[in-house]
Amino acid sequence: MISDSLLRARTFEQKYIEFQDPKRPCFHVTGTVGWINDPNGFSVYKGEYHLFYQYHPYSKEWGPMHWGHVKTKDFIRWERLPAALAPDTEADRDGCFSGSALELEDGRQLLMYTGVYKETGEDLEIREYQRQSIALGDGINYVKYEGNPVLDADDLPEGGSLYDFRDPKIWKEGGSFFAVVANRAADESGSVLLFRSEDGFYWKYVKILVSNHDEFGKMWECPDFFSLDGEQVLVVSPQDMVPMGLEFHAGNGVVCMMGGWDREKCSFQRERAQSMDYGIDFYAPQTVETIDGRRVMIAWMQNWATSRCQDPTADFFGMMTVPRELGIRNGRLIQNPVRELENYRQNRVTYQNVLVNRQMNLAGIFGRVMDLTVQVRPATEMGYAYFQLNVGEDGEHGAFICYEPGSSIVKVDRTRSGGCFDIVHERSFFVRPQEGRVKIRVVMDKNSLEIFVNDGEQAASFLLYSPVTAQAVSFGARGAALMDVEKYDLVV
Ligand code: FRU
Repeated sequence: MISDSLLRARTFEQKYIEFQDPKRPCFHVTGTVGWINDPNGFSVYKGEYHLFYQYHPYSKEWGPMHWGHVKTKDFIRWERLPAALAPDTEADRDGCFSGSALELEDGRQLLMYTGVYKETGEDLEIREYQRQSIALGDGINYVKYEGNPVLDADDLPEGGSLYDFRDPKIWKEGGSFFAVVANRAADESGSVLLFRSEDGFYWKYVKILVSNHDEFGKMWECPDFFSLDGEQVLVVSPQDMVPMGLEFHAGNGVVCMMGGWDREKCSFQRERAQSMDYGIDFYAPQTVETIDGRRVMIAWMQNWATSRCQDPTADFFGMMTVPRELGIRNGRLIQNPVRELENYRQNRVTYQNVLVNRQMNLAGIFGRVMDLTVQVRPATEMGYAYFQLNVGEDGEHGAFICYEPGSSIVKVDRTRSGGCFDIVHERSFFVRPQEGRVKIRVVMDKNSLEIFVNDGEQAASFLLYSPVTAQAVSFGARGAALMDVEKYDLVV
């Protein structure tokens, strides 16, 4: 049985399912129509990868949350599916917030999400309660479980807020189901709660897995928890961060913690923390373990603070990052675009040992849907003071990526990338010192720029607002640098 609200959403989005607005990116996920935010339910189901997303089809503003739905075999070509969830039951009447998914042994796909409902208290204040619910389906249609909500106020630890209790991420391990859920603790900062279930339906509180104690922002959103290269990784998206050096910026951020996991004791020992992405537009990532054992992450390529900066002529707002393969190298979490992207590379153009000591262009190196790698090293013993790679240029526009070997800082500046909004357009971050050597890979898909430094040691995501006709690429240096360039068009 499809509810009236879901039917209404499906009918509304129908005419956009096939239509490909030329403004859309070629291989990044966007919503069928209207607003999207967080990726949800990134999971394998019947041999394909499903991705859901926070969705308000009726406008380009955030509103009562639905789940939109796409699937893929290779993370690059996506098929649109009808909206999966609408707010239509007592337990989720004001929204189906973020959550996750997995395939049950009986062949059904289980979605676990936050059901939101509002109530007016005796003091006439409207309060929004958040609880966890379940829906079961076949990859297209989902039925909400009659036992919803499956996690409620009674399942919270002392002091845990009923109003900030959301974003369950579920997984199966050692024959049991586990879930991490974000919660606001009594001290107003964030914590991640751990729950356990033997069947995926009946859930029990285990413990507070990690408490923030105001170290990284306030409330943590969208936790993810998984093993990677012999370690355990906890990812959270905190609100209200204050900057810490160049590692974390103000506002909504994404923190990745690495450490050990003792499943018997259900204890996570954090050893290190780093920023997940050093760009402006990256939030609420979620990962999936692929059929061949890789850990792949996708995130909302947006920042809440800038989500009013919209193109008034587009019928959609919000997009996801390119899916990225994760790993741990020399203690750092690394990320690179999924290897499947390489299957879409065409028209290779390469240069070796090009001397850069002034502003220059290279024949054949341009584009807005491209995969470009530049490797730079000093040309002489004196080396160079900085190296600059500029993309998306047309005389008026351009995004600038600058590397300073002296400070080991990469600075990205999209001030001249078409935005007419008085917002942050620059970010700087440290890379590992390598005696003037640096490798910068840039993946562009019309209005997005994703940068991967030194084989994924740092990633930085940016939206560009410039016209897609701004396609030129130029290079510059103070001093003398030598570079190798490899560029492909991405044809999807
Ligand atoms: C993160 C978030 C989640 C919530 C969802 C609502 O961006 O605030 O915590 O579930 O968005 O759309």
